[in-house]
Amino acid sequence: MGERYACFGVGPPAVSGCERQRRAAAGSQAKQNVSMDPTAPVWELYERHAELWRRNRLPGLTLERDWIERFCSQLPLGAPILDVGCGHGQPIAAQLLRDGFGLWGIDRAPSLINTARTTLPGGHFEVFDMTSFDLGRTFAGIVMWHSLFHLTAVEQRRVFPLLGAHAEPGAVLLFTTGPTAGSASGEFGGEVLAHHSLGHDEYVDLLAVEGFTVVDYRESDPDCGNATVWMAERANAGVGRSGVDV
Ligand SMILES: C[S@@+](CC[C@H](N)C(=O)[O-])C[C@H]1O[C@@H](n2cnc3c(N)ncnc32)[C@H](O)[C@@H]1O
Repeated sequence: MGERYACFGVGPPAVSGCERQRRAAAGSQAKQNVSMDPTAPVWELYERHAELWRRNRLPGLTLERDWIERFCSQLPLGAPILDVGCGHGQPIAAQLLRDGFGLWGIDRAPSLINTARTTLPGGHFEVFDMTSFDLGRTFAGIVMWHSLFHLTAVEQRRVFPLLGAHAEPGAVLLFTTGPTAGSASGEFGGEVLAHHSLGHDEYVDLLAVEGFTVVDYRESDPDCGNATVWMAERANAGVGRSGVDV
């Protein structure tokens, strides 16, 4: 692995992700040094601490607002959007629904999906692993905000053909990663929270294989809690080079 860095900007935005997580962990019942299997999937941690996540990730866009608005401005009114790793749907899926888009959200943590279903009845929410989902349809927009970086490098490489398979020609993709190839440890609910990133050029290549071109990219965007943010657009013609039919 490459360099290590502190945290990729996870967490609600009024304070930096790491600081917010630190505060949340300090206030939670689950105190430091809980010894969990470090190889366990990260979604299990979100499931264990679903209530803490719901309390932290509040309604109303903040630091992500500009990116979400730019993403939406590329899409036709009412277009179908897929939110990959949507959590409980706040604040992003909720805003997209308010803006009149058709919204599907997937997340592997059942408690978060249950909350999304209950509180956002206009959306369609399903429990799926983002490394192996097949929704049998395509979308004009796909957002994957602060979720990809919880997968290992090997798992992340599996996600891009799935994005390609669920993207319409001309689809817009918005997602976050770490700034450079490597791994980092944050903390949530008193537990270690792993983050991983591929390098810039590998993401560009993985996108290109699926017919996506990067249209905007900001490494460690200071206006977005130092998140590294990507917007990509798919060419209007047909099939990703990975061979997955769209
Ligand atoms: C930092 S939260 C971000 C949630 C939401 N996108 C947001 O902006 O608030 C990361 C989310 O990724 C989900 N997640 C982690 N691993 C996953 C996997 N393998 N498949 C689907 N969801 C996963 C977690 O359950 C959690 O809801």
